[in-house]
Amino acid sequence: MSADYQVQNHVAVITLNNPPVNGLGLATRTAAVEALQRAELDPSVKAVVITGAGKAFSGGADIREFNSPKALTEPTLHTLIRTAEGLAKPVVAAIHSVCMGGGLELALGCAYRVAVPGAQIALPEVKLGLLPGAGGTQRLPRVIGLEAALEMIVSGNPLPSEKFAGTLFDEVFPAGTELVPAAVEFARKIADVRPLPKVRDRKVGHADAQAFLAAARAKVKLAAGAFPAPLECVETIAAAVDMPFEEGCKFERSRFIHLTQTVESKALRHAFFAERAASKIPDVPADTPVREIKSAAVIGAGTMGGGIAMNFANAGIPVTILETKQEALDQGLATIRKNYENTVRKGKLTPEKCEQRMALVKGTLAYEDIAQADIVIEAVFEDMGVKETVFRQLDTVMKPGAILASNTSTLDLDKIAGFTRRPQDVIGLHFFSPANVMKLLEIVRGARTGKDVLATALALSKKLRKTGVVSGVCDGFIGNRMVEQYIRQAGFLLDEGALPQQVDQAIEKFGFAMGPFRMGDLAGNDIGWYIRKRRAVEMPELAYSKTADLLCEQGRFGQKTGAGWYDYQAGDRSPHPSAAVDAMIVRHSKDIGVERRAISDEEIVERLVYSLVNEGAKILEEGIALRASDIDMVYLSGYGFPLYRGGPMFYADTVGLPAVLAAIEKYARGYHGEAWQPAGLLRKLADEGRGFNS
Ligand code: NAI
Repeated sequence: MSADYQVQNHVAVITLNNPPVNGLGLATRTAAVEALQRAELDPSVKAVVITGAGKAFSGGADIREFNSPKALTEPTLHTLIRTAEGLAKPVVAAIHSVCMGGGLELALGCAYRVAVPGAQIALPEVKLGLLPGAGGTQRLPRVIGLEAALEMIVSGNPLPSEKFAGTLFDEVFPAGTELVPAAVEFARKIADVRPLPKVRDRKVGHADAQAFLAAARAKVKLAAGAFPAPLECVETIAAAVDMPFEEGCKFERSRFIHLTQTVESKALRHAFFAERAASKIPDVPADTPVREIKSAAVIGAGTMGGGIAMNFANAGIPVTILETKQEALDQGLATIRKNYENTVRKGKLTPEKCEQRMALVKGTLAYEDIAQADIVIEAVFEDMGVKETVFRQLDTVMKPGAILASNTSTLDLDKIAGFTRRPQDVIGLHFFSPANVMKLLEIVRGARTGKDVLATALALSKKLRKTGVVSGVCDGFIGNRMVEQYIRQAGFLLDEGALPQQVDQAIEKFGFAMGPFRMGDLAGNDIGWYIRKRRAVEMPELAYSKTADLLCEQGRFGQKTGAGWYDYQAGDRSPHPSAAVDAMIVRHSKDIGVERRAISDEEIVERLVYSLVNEGAKILEEGIALRASDIDMVYLSGYGFPLYRGGPMFYADTVGLPAVLAAIEKYARGYHGEAWQPAGLLRKLADEGRGFNS
């Protein structure tokens, strides 16, 4: 059963019942239409209440039916709404908890709406690059007015039901009211009122609709950037003003169908599903028991340790930071306080909350003080010797069952686990800098990591409001292993004729938040320098442009030294092209005998993005990533890849893998062509006419 039917006191109560949020899937729609027809035919029924079982009135379309023909099979959502609207008896939508998307559109088709306070009301379609396609854009402005409807539909954000007393809702009951009996009572009261009120018969109220719409168009266009949906929302809402109801609905339908076909909407929907898929691990079932995390410890109070500790404090979990020296500890704790105080200054945190969070953060120099923590995350120097000392110590002191995590960005997690007698408890938790801000958390699964430890890490990532993506063990894991190829290409482009600002501008125009050279200056060019020195020993055949070393030899580490690929003025983070660096790059080309040439922005974008795609394909082939969409999630949430392009693997699919492969083969014949060994998987999928995500 996906909609229950009962008659109470001459009122038919239809309860949508499709856990978890009463998504309006085919079975639910069918049952709801049948129940409405049954109520219509039952002479003892005078009125109808439609409500939702469990945790929602309705969350809208059933996401399990997205991209499936079921969504278009009769009775469609449209038919369900028309059935409710066309009933000869009054239908009352009784709303609690969640009423979103198609759920709200259904409610708008009912003659009356009542609610309890605290229900979340939204039309969130724009967040998936769409617009409400079942009459929402036509009915909502007729009920709550043009301005409020436009704000709701263009933002997609939820508002609490009590905000709509007297507008969207005919009645908002006092807090604590039991909804269904109150709704039945309401239905009995209005049972004989005729004519039945219909939202479609109303007019959109506004004193000067055209002027308001013109201003809204300008504002929304500016804010929407590359996304077409917000402006389409405005145009369809404008149709509610300018056109008769039926015509407006037709217009809405056509714009909705148009949006479903846009790359931007496909990318947003891909990201939506990718995020959900990332938490599912085939051999770790959803019911795998998780360990309780009530307290945490962090080793190292440096750049990463402090940010990681803040994540726990933000989630209300007490955390103790361990350092080797009091001075480093004091400095780390002071930085945390400074960060919180900055947030207070920006008005995003109250002073009380700041103090509450600081009270959860303790510091220590003694391992005994962290022995009882449920999880410990090591964030000391990126040096295997230091990691060994720390993990041997943790193995000795930590209570049995504690999770021992490392924030290493490149080192072999299995080796680290081997320093302990409990490798099943060891896992990588790779946060990104700044760790209190960045959404991505790479969860590194070692060869011997316990399934319950992995399940706990995934649950923890949700608690810390991170996007957790599981990676196997390899140098750089998913994100940094790919970015390494991207940075190598950026360097080769300098050797061949480009300058840092051209490279950055080209890729930023493509949509990246920040180009590789600005990113290097922000993160510190010395980090890459250190890694290249290590690689020169481990993998001497791996070539890099020497320009980055020349830069570091001049002490140009980036923003922190006031100079990097760009010049910086004191107290200002804006990059200024550096004549000295540009001259150094040009000189270097001469020194290595490369004749500089004009390089197009198109070539820059292809080389940077396809280097990610090719390495991503290898990562997928080796099983380091479980699915292409996991790789996309890493790049969307941790590396500033443009959301409207869906991530590197999704983007490659939109270009077409044969075209990507052909470009890679072309670059393989060019400067440092050895960096372009096409991945076997890329070749295979291109041959089969398939994509990474299909
Ligand atoms: P950092 O140099 O800022 O901080 C390291 C801290 O560890 C210092 O405060 C140091 O006093 C402390 N420390 C060193 N040995 C210790 C020991 N035996 N016991 C206790 N404390 C000790 O380094 P950062 O940047 O925070 O990096 C830490 C780890 O995080 C490294 O493994 C790094 O690869 C990784 N990581 C760094 C990222 C970044 O952007 N900086 C991003 C992601 C991971």
